[in-house]
Amino acid sequence: GAETTATSFAASIEAIRSKLPESLHHPQVGIICGSGLSGLVDVIKDVQKIHYSEIPDFSTSTVPGHKSELAFGFLGTVPVVAMLGRFHPYEGHGLSSVVYPVRVMARLGVKNMIITNAAGSLNPQIPVGTIVVIQDHLALPNLTGMNPLLGPQVSKDLPRFLPLSDAYSTTLRRLAFLAAHRLQLDDSALAEGVYAWVSGPTYETPAEGRFLRKAGADVVGMSTVPEVLAAREEGLNVMVLSLVTNFVVIPDSYPSIREEVKAELAGLKILRAEPEVVSHEEVLLIGKEKAKVMRELVQAVVTSIE
Ligand code: HPA
Repeated sequence: GAETTATSFAASIEAIRSKLPESLHHPQVGIICGSGLSGLVDVIKDVQKIHYSEIPDFSTSTVPGHKSELAFGFLGTVPVVAMLGRFHPYEGHGLSSVVYPVRVMARLGVKNMIITNAAGSLNPQIPVGTIVVIQDHLALPNLTGMNPLLGPQVSKDLPRFLPLSDAYSTTLRRLAFLAAHRLQLDDSALAEGVYAWVSGPTYETPAEGRFLRKAGADVVGMSTVPEVLAAREEGLNVMVLSLVTNFVVIPDSYPSIREEVKAELAGLKILRAEPEVVSHEEVLLIGKEKAKVMRELVQAVVTSIE
C-alpha cells in the first residue's frame, strides 16, 4: 500500500505463513525474477506458490512475461522465496508498492537478495545474451526527485541517509564468478558493469542512450534499483544480474534530412537505412533462450552462500 505500516507487514506475513509448512517460514535468500526469467521456479524443490492477490498490500504485475506469484521452496538445502513477476513504476504502482515485497522478504528472514532483470546494452563490448554482474548503478530518477526512499520511513530503526558506495555485495559478486567457473561458462558469458535505471515505459532515444553511455552506464533498464535501495535500507546483501536482451541503438550521427532533400531536388535519390527499433518481444525471446544459464547461475550462487 501507499502508506506502508507495521500492521500491513504483520498482515502480509501472517497471510503468507498461514499457507506454508513451517520449514518454509524463514527463507534465507530472496530472488526477484525479471522479464522472462521466472523459469527459475522449475528448479525450486518442494515449491509452494502464493498468488500476490492472496497477500494483503501486494500489488499484481501487469507486464507480459511477468507472473504475480511468490514461490517458496529450496535450492539445494537453502530455503528461498522467489518473486515470479515484479512491479515497475511505469505500470502505475507507487514506489512504496514496488518495494513492498522486498520489505516483506526481509521481515520473513531473508538475508541475501538476488535480483535479475532484462536490460539493454550501451556498451559495444557487452553483446546480447551476456549476463552482467552489476557493480554499481546510475539512478537518474534518484537525482531528480523520484528516489524510492523519499518520504516517511517504514521504521525509525532504518538509516535515514543510506550510503550506497557498497550497495552491490562483493562477496555475492565473487560467488557469481566462482559459480560461472564451476559451471564452465565461457569467459564472455558473464561481464561486470554499471546499470542505469530509467523509469520507462519508453525505450531510450539515441540521444538518451548516448547520454547514459557517456555518463558511465553499461546497461539500462526500467527496474531493480528501487528494490536494491529498499533491500540495502533493510540491511540485506544484494546481487544484481542483468541479462542483455538488446543493444540500445546509438548511431554516431544522424542522417541529414536537409542533405537528402537537397539531393532529391537535384534529381538524385539517397537510400536511407531505417533505424533499428527495440521491442518487448525481442526482450522476452532472448530471456527465453538464456533463461537456462541465468537459472543455473542463480542456483549455483544460492547453494554456495554460507
Ligand atoms: N532500455 C530500457 N530497458 C530495457 C531495455 C532497453 O533497451 N531492454 C530491456 N529493458
